[in-house]
Amino acid sequence: MVENAASNLAAQIEDTAPTKYKALLDWVRETAELTQPDSVYWVNGSQEEYDRIAQEMVDAGSLVRLTDPQFPNSYAAFSDPADVARVESRTFICSEKEEDAGFTNNWKDPAEMKSILNDAFDGAMRGRTMYVVPFVMGPLDAKDPKYGVEITDSPYVVLSMRIMARVGTDVLDKMSETEAFFVPALHSVGAPLEAGQEDVTWPSNDTKWIVHFPEERAIVSYGSGYGGNALLGKKAYSLRIASAMARDEGWMAEHMLILKLTSPEGKSYTITGAFPSATGKTNLALIDPTLEGWKAETLGDDIAWITPDDNNQLRVVNPEYGFFGVAPGTGWHTNPNAMRAIAKGNTIFTNVALTPEGGVWWEGLTKEKPAQLTDWLGNDWTPDSETPAAHPNSRFCTPIDQTDMLADEYYDPEGIKLDAILFGGRRDNAIPLVTEARSWQDGVFKGATLSSAQTAAAEGTVGVVRRDPMAMLPFIGYAAGDYIQNWLDMEDKIGTENMPQIFLVNWFRRNDQGKFSWPGFGENSRVLKWVVERLEGKGDGVETPIGVVPTEDALDLTGLDISQDNLLNSISFHAEEWHDEIPMIEEWFEKFGDKLPAAMSEELQGLKNRLGLK
Ligand code: GDP
Ligand code: PGA
Ligand code: MN
Repeated sequence: MVENAASNLAAQIEDTAPTKYKALLDWVRETAELTQPDSVYWVNGSQEEYDRIAQEMVDAGSLVRLTDPQFPNSYAAFSDPADVARVESRTFICSEKEEDAGFTNNWKDPAEMKSILNDAFDGAMRGRTMYVVPFVMGPLDAKDPKYGVEITDSPYVVLSMRIMARVGTDVLDKMSETEAFFVPALHSVGAPLEAGQEDVTWPSNDTKWIVHFPEERAIVSYGSGYGGNALLGKKAYSLRIASAMARDEGWMAEHMLILKLTSPEGKSYTITGAFPSATGKTNLALIDPTLEGWKAETLGDDIAWITPDDNNQLRVVNPEYGFFGVAPGTGWHTNPNAMRAIAKGNTIFTNVALTPEGGVWWEGLTKEKPAQLTDWLGNDWTPDSETPAAHPNSRFCTPIDQTDMLADEYYDPEGIKLDAILFGGRRDNAIPLVTEARSWQDGVFKGATLSSAQTAAAEGTVGVVRRDPMAMLPFIGYAAGDYIQNWLDMEDKIGTENMPQIFLVNWFRRNDQGKFSWPGFGENSRVLKWVVERLEGKGDGVETPIGVVPTEDALDLTGLDISQDNLLNSISFHAEEWHDEIPMIEEWFEKFGDKLPAAMSEELQGLKNRLGLK
């Protein structure tokens, strides 16, 4: 019986596959034989297909179609309450050797892991459709297109992947024609249905596995439907696997927004920013500058692939095709550009609240709270309720070309020249609003020691400060020490004079009253202006042991209502705070063992000397 079903499935794949690419067909057939889905469906990427799958989900009750005209052609999904964020404790880098995964990653022997996964996937798709999603990260006309194929039993993943990556027939045809390498990315929610068993609205499994085989360039994800765990083109491919590719091939895959900024004089600069999850990338990527005459255009809000070109310039591309943004805090008063993109529709919201008008709401969308909502758990909600209406990690998933501020260079497979890099974290104290690194090596040190309070974007205790190198802690696909070395090597490769300038920023310093002392959001354009001035050799600064910070009157504060106390609290360097930082940095560096690049110990010693410490 099972044998029969399997050979039927194999025949079905043979008959319906829109490709003759043998390596792909073999993998699809083997996967179907193992997971035993009811049927196999090849995703073509069309609008008709998207609408049809969405309708099927609406009919099944696993997606809500929004009827409020403010959100055209948009849907809301609600996850299992236990499946709302990335699960770092269940995320593995299975390199052949444990030391190659490094201390920042969970590791298991690849053979042992494959045997565990084999058991988990055995029959895992029973009662479901197995979707085959061909995708490419970055433009399809890139010199070396980065292909992948995600096999998934989640229609939510299919719809979301079509927003976040270029998917479908064009990709499959080109991949097949050239028999190009593709990253096999296997995903199952891990909830097979027995005959007659009714489905739940968000199938998932208490056991979750998010597994990467960096040497093989393969991904396997089990048990979760949440974006960061299940949309495998995103963090799994474009950061974890791509970072390993980048190390081997001499480039960098980074957790960064990409922003093109044009000054009133008409000069353009490209700035990337590495901030941990839920720490302001999407907001800065979509900034609406409050300073007159400054124009911001975006290229990306989450991932940056940075490659040296033939002229030894670093160029940057965004491999993604959409935004997967944190909803809470996003509103017309904080991020009008995100709101304009969302208002065009075609968006999938996850774990937000529903309004009686058939729209969505989350904390911070409007200043005034609505009188009546259905919260993300499906309960009645009023402003008196004690729990938030939307989950703190609720998300909007929106096509990138819906933003009016998309830079033309977004479509250029060669990318755009990179001028400056910001590292940023969420820190109550110690880290000033903006500090210019003393050199590339000092900038790498600032990235390697980046620290930030944890957010709801991953499991763990919100608010606890942790070191998060280059905001890549959960995403480095190999040993962290080697990763820092890859950053240092860039300078040898392309020359000191060609390196982007590095800055450390912190929008989240708090004053005596425990409030953010800097207004943030659009006002961050004032910091960006100073960054540009520094690139141009202008902009007043004071030398401190950690680098140059703006003088009291160096930031353009035209039209900004900020108290002198708050300004000083934002921009000042305080030596005592850094005396407390040093032991934490030392403790952090000890974890690298002998993988810590000597340049990092050198920088630490230099900093201690400048602070007057031994
Ligand atoms: P991402 O996950 O790194 O892309 O972070 P987001 O841009 O989505 O922002 C995460 C959270 O931080 C949201 O709740 C934002 O409203 C908030 N946020 C972003 N930028 C700022 C800022 O400049 N100041 C303050 N205080 N909050 C910010
Ligand atoms: P982000 O990542 O918070 O950096 O936008 C998305 C996720 O994987 O949770
Ligand atoms: Mn984001």
